[in-house]
Amino acid sequence: MAAHQRLRGRDLVDFSDYTTEDVHALLKLALVLKEAQKTKFPHAILGGQTLALIFDKASTRTRISFEVGMAQLGGHALFVPGETSQMGRGEPIEDTARVLSRYVDGIMIRTFEHATVQRLAEFASVPVVNGLTDDHHPCQVLADVLTLLEHTGRLQGLTVAYVGDGNNMAHSWLQLAPKLGIHIRIAAPAGYLPNADIVEQAKRDAIRNHSQVLVTTDPQRAVENADVIYTDVWASMGAEAEAEHRKRIFSEYQVNSALVRWANPNYLFMHCLPAHRGEEVTAEIIDGEHSIIFDQAENRLHAQKAVLCALMADAGAFGEE
Ligand code: CP
Ligand code: NVA
Repeated sequence: MAAHQRLRGRDLVDFSDYTTEDVHALLKLALVLKEAQKTKFPHAILGGQTLALIFDKASTRTRISFEVGMAQLGGHALFVPGETSQMGRGEPIEDTARVLSRYVDGIMIRTFEHATVQRLAEFASVPVVNGLTDDHHPCQVLADVLTLLEHTGRLQGLTVAYVGDGNNMAHSWLQLAPKLGIHIRIAAPAGYLPNADIVEQAKRDAIRNHSQVLVTTDPQRAVENADVIYTDVWASMGAEAEAEHRKRIFSEYQVNSALVRWANPNYLFMHCLPAHRGEEVTAEIIDGEHSIIFDQAENRLHAQKAVLCALMADAGAFGEE
């Protein structure tokens, strides 16, 4: 059985229950699917299958890459805006999970509380994929490591410095990087540091995979000799009301020409997007020669297709029954 076939029927709520081998299997499959798409090689692996896309928050990349991905895989994606469904009127997520499982073959959800996705996954009989919660963004970080693999040819031993809010992106990096032997450093202001339990688990994973985890309030310390500088918005979806207050708190955490001077001279700049030029990053850096933001955005498509195939494809769909 191919490594990715062990993932059939599983969920991707976050990366806490994925092994190093599971993640490498997804990356390998993503590269195969990317090649198939580029060479127009037919890969209707999910022919006849439907994926529901529940959105309680805005999206450009996630919605479009999942819809296009399902089309390329020969399946169908169904956009379900949370606020116009009965979920928006308080129908329990447990009932929604059981109802949708009677119609569709998989569910992607973008929502606020991580516990909502955990409950959806518990009660749905079809795979559930997290398209972003307040605490995690696993599809984004999977696309990010795929992008790094393509740009650098390796993952083990790379140093990624994440500068900014200790938010969903920071948590997903803390979960995934140590499993792949990537050194992960997070620099965030006091009061905005990542969740302590996630940091502790990351440190345990790092010991097993010979990598290091550093959480600091000093952006320069995080960026010193780093191979990758990553940032994200200072006010995530749901925290818009704090935006002005956060601009003051985070001003020392802007990725600009003064900060990147401390990095490896060949550093790569990454951002999950959407970005606010002049806030978390200057235009000079995000639009400069080290930036690989649009490769990241493209790889959402390929990484998520790998996730959907691994979780949803019928036995034998890959021709290796
Ligand atoms: N990076 C990301 O998830 O983008 P969207 O909010 O546009 O989906
Ligand atoms: N941290 C950001 C990521 C957007 C893709 C947010 O949650 O809004």
